[in-house]
Amino acid sequence: MENAIPTLKLANGVEMPMLGYGVYQIDPQETERCVGDALRVGYRLIDTAQVYCNEEGVGAAVAKSGIRRDEIFIVSKVWLSRYGETKTADSIDESLRKLQTDYIDLMLLHQPFCDRYGAWRALEAAYRAGKVRAIGVSNFFADHVVDLAANNEIVPMVDQMEMHVFDQKRGLRPFLDELGCRPMSWGPFAEGRNNFFSNPVLSEIGVAHGKSVAQVALRFLHQNGIIVIPKSTHVERMQENLAIFDFALSPTEMAAIEALDTGKSLFFDHHEGAVTKQFMEWRGLC
Ligand SMILES: NC(=O)c1ccc[n+]([C@@H]2O[C@H](COP(=O)([O-])OP(=O)(O)OC[C@H]3O[C@@H](n4cnc5c(N)ncnc54)[C@H](OP(=O)(O)O)[C@@H]3O)[C@@H](O)[C@H]2O)c1
Repeated sequence: MENAIPTLKLANGVEMPMLGYGVYQIDPQETERCVGDALRVGYRLIDTAQVYCNEEGVGAAVAKSGIRRDEIFIVSKVWLSRYGETKTADSIDESLRKLQTDYIDLMLLHQPFCDRYGAWRALEAAYRAGKVRAIGVSNFFADHVVDLAANNEIVPMVDQMEMHVFDQKRGLRPFLDELGCRPMSWGPFAEGRNNFFSNPVLSEIGVAHGKSVAQVALRFLHQNGIIVIPKSTHVERMQENLAIFDFALSPTEMAAIEALDTGKSLFFDHHEGAVTKQFMEWRGLC
């Protein structure tokens, strides 16, 4: 089996790699080096966000990579403090400047709070103007995504959610599938929580394939049609996390991993008032 990164087609026909590199919690000073390494070892999708305060590092690494812009798929996200028709439009222009590019491949609304309708209209306008090639949401549960899709012209093309073996978001999938909205996982390793990297089920399956826990966890999501964006600052782990297309999990192995699902977040409950307040007050990693 080959190890090339497969792509999938979004609802508007845009092709998106199914595996990319995430830069959350990467220091702005270190981002250029990390993204440069990631591009060198073969990643072609980079996931950043306004609130990570490292869009400049991504832009610099892409510009210096020598790789054609149309071979790289850049994802960014609008933060809550920039929601509202005018503020979101201005924030997209700012992201374009920081990323040193004429277009962003996929722009997401980062959270389902504040003036998300105004923000979505600005994304729709940016899409029509060619500033973004595709638009979507993140952390939108079924209630939010169904509502947004039903009351606007463009249906979100991607929903980036916490999705890993311990929180598989099975209830959300039928709603996304019906909308033609692609699932994208954040935190594919749950950032190591719940003893992720020493989980016995994942370890045993890994041994059977000569693969690591990380590779088994990513492969599980991939076989479920989920786009993944693992983060690592270490180049050897970046390479390890890419090498998931030369093996396949059997139906029995998939079922064993499905049984690890707790149906609960390992981070926060987006439907709790205290969490909403926390997000609305957050001003990012700068
Ligand atoms: N939309 C959202 O609200 C949202 C929220 C969170 C994340 N995200 C996106 O999703 C991306 C991935 O999620 P994440 O960064 O939160 O967490 P993650 O990818 O689940 O986990 C990253 C952690 O795993 C370690 N790691 C990576 N590869 C490893 C390997 N092969 N073996 C052992 N340890 C390994 C990393 O350490 P080292 O770096 O030291 O290698 C880091 O501590 C983010 O970077 C971001 O782009 C989006």
